[in-house]
Amino acid sequence: MLQGAFGHAKSNSLMADYASLLSEAVLRHRARLAEHSARIEAELASKVKSEFVANMSHELRTPLNTVIGFSKLLQEHERRPLPAKDIVEYASLINDAAAHLLSVINDILDISKIQSGKYTLDSREVNIEEILVAVITQARIVATDAGVTVVPAIAYDLPTVRGDDAKLLQAFTNILSNAIKFTSRGGNVTVEALRRVDGGVGVLVRDTGIGMTDEEISVATKPFAQVDGSRARWREGAGLGLPIAKALIELHGGRIDIRSKKDVGTEIAIAFPPRHSVQPVNPDEPMVAQCDLT
Ligand SMILES: Nc1ncnc2c1ncn2[C@@H]1O[C@H](COP(=O)(O)OP(=O)(O)O)[C@@H](O)[C@H]1O
Ligand SMILES: [Mg+2]
Repeated sequence: MLQGAFGHAKSNSLMADYASLLSEAVLRHRARLAEHSARIEAELASKVKSEFVANMSHELRTPLNTVIGFSKLLQEHERRPLPAKDIVEYASLINDAAAHLLSVINDILDISKIQSGKYTLDSREVNIEEILVAVITQARIVATDAGVTVVPAIAYDLPTVRGDDAKLLQAFTNILSNAIKFTSRGGNVTVEALRRVDGGVGVLVRDTGIGMTDEEISVATKPFAQVDGSRARWREGAGLGLPIAKALIELHGGRIDIRSKKDVGTEIAIAFPPRHSVQPVNPDEPMVAQCDLT
């Protein structure tokens, strides 16, 4: 009996030893895992940071150098008089550069708000036709300069979409400006809009431009990424237009599908769900944005 009781006590203490060894091993393993994932995160953060710095330095420096350089020439006007036409030209170069800088800064602030889930949208009845007409009208000047024809094909019976007209205008402006920017002289961009069979709205922006491979599409939808830096460079941009457009459409409950073929063209299909399938929103309360941009 005594032996049995003693044996039992001994096995109990052995069990306790095993349990404590095991829990120590588990804790060590967890600590190693945490260390490993912290290291990977730190590496990723530093990679993202250096890519960001490389991409942004051009976008921020170029217009700032223009502003500093030409304003200096204007400042020296009394000592070294400039012809009147140069003064006007320098002022307009400064104005363009400052406007470009502001739009890059606005895009950076937008993407960081979207990524932190702090983006709010208005919730109103939005007429997509009005938005597309405004976007096409705005884009026409750039398209004409680039020798690209923009062809609208908008159905007359489009249902409304619930959301934020300014943000949808921004999303379509980004998509259409890319379509024009990446299409060579003599090419076409078509903007189609129709009522989907499910009662939602479908928009299709199609271009006959440089196109992308599947891998390039996945790069293009990530913030600050540009498929071909050298090719995109002369066309300007910070690599934020498409990710912002994608996020804004998804925040409206919509989806965006990109199909593209190298040297043939790109098709961007946007689908907004029928209004009754969108979560009812209190019109006095802004919708809080939640979307995944990783
Ligand atoms: N319609 C298009 N045709 C070909 N490439 C495109 C098109 N739209 C986007 N891209 C690619 O996706 C990249 C990211 O687009 P975007 O985020 O708008 O950045 P940006 O216009 O500033 O370069 C572009 O640099 C380009 O490589
Ligand atoms: Mg763009």
